[in-house]
Amino acid sequence: MKPKVYITRKIPEPFINRLSLICDVRMWEKEDTPVPYEILKNEIEDIDGLLCMLTDNIDDSLIRKAKRLKIIANMAVGYNNIDINSATNHGIMVTNTPDVLTKTTADLTFGLLIATARRLIEASDYLKNGDWKSWSLMQLTGQDVYGSTLGIIGLGRIGEALAKRAKGFDMEIYYFNRRRKYEKEEELGVQYAPLEELLKISDFVCIMTPYTPETKNLIDYEQLSLMKKNAILINTARGGIVNETALYHVLKNGGIAGAGLDVFEEEPVSLDNPLLTLPNVVALPHIGSASTATRMKMADLAVTNLIAGVQNEKPKNLVNCIR
Ligand code: GLV
Ligand code: GLV
Repeated sequence: MKPKVYITRKIPEPFINRLSLICDVRMWEKEDTPVPYEILKNEIEDIDGLLCMLTDNIDDSLIRKAKRLKIIANMAVGYNNIDINSATNHGIMVTNTPDVLTKTTADLTFGLLIATARRLIEASDYLKNGDWKSWSLMQLTGQDVYGSTLGIIGLGRIGEALAKRAKGFDMEIYYFNRRRKYEKEEELGVQYAPLEELLKISDFVCIMTPYTPETKNLIDYEQLSLMKKNAILINTARGGIVNETALYHVLKNGGIAGAGLDVFEEEPVSLDNPLLTLPNVVALPHIGSASTATRMKMADLAVTNLIAGVQNEKPKNLVNCIR
């Protein structure tokens, strides 16, 4: 009997075909809505493998329902949507999709940084709204990116790729990381700074850490208040790393100059979120890895991990330690 797998969102045909050679495949057919929790709870009972997205909350009560699940293959590099402890306790492997999205996400992060600093979205809206009556000297002026100081919080794969991009803009680069990465400092031309110091000296602060209990609300009132008045905060990691209420108040009161956000505490973000009312906030719908080529690579990697898991092999991107 073929192993059974469930896919929580429609993925391109060739991946389904590849999986179908080996597995019995069931899938949530809708492209633009996540599978309802109750449906997933039914489906998970007798499957061997689950391919899921960052929009699926794979919590303990869901994992408990699974009778024979061997692997949860997440199609994202972040896996904060999965209760890893519970999976590990139940002997279930969890995988992610690192590396293939590193450069694409670093590109988007740097693009968002420029867009926020140079007010690109505001300027485009200004033109399209018919407000462009004449060119004037100080109209829509923003901040220079080149030669400024960048603070990277979290020097992982994507943080490193961001540093490489910033080098080309002659930025002075500082990083904070739980473990100081001496070996990277010369290679990348980056300097270590404790978090408080980094916040005080940076013109741009980019959040590049995974979302864990330790990084929840890592950037709160106290941290935001250390930042320069001209500073811009960029978050393409996870919304919960920043206290959004604090960010709103600090932006509103001119404590910092702007924010570029690709992620939110609640996604999709509610249109009532006050951050969306601020002209100095550039808001994107979680598109860090969203290039066509990269999304195909992520699907490919997730499927490869899933197949290894259901065949009792060790998948390439195992993130937990079982047995
Ligand atoms: C996207 O946010 C990811 O974790 O891959
Ligand atoms: C602006 O376009 C300039 O030529 O300075």
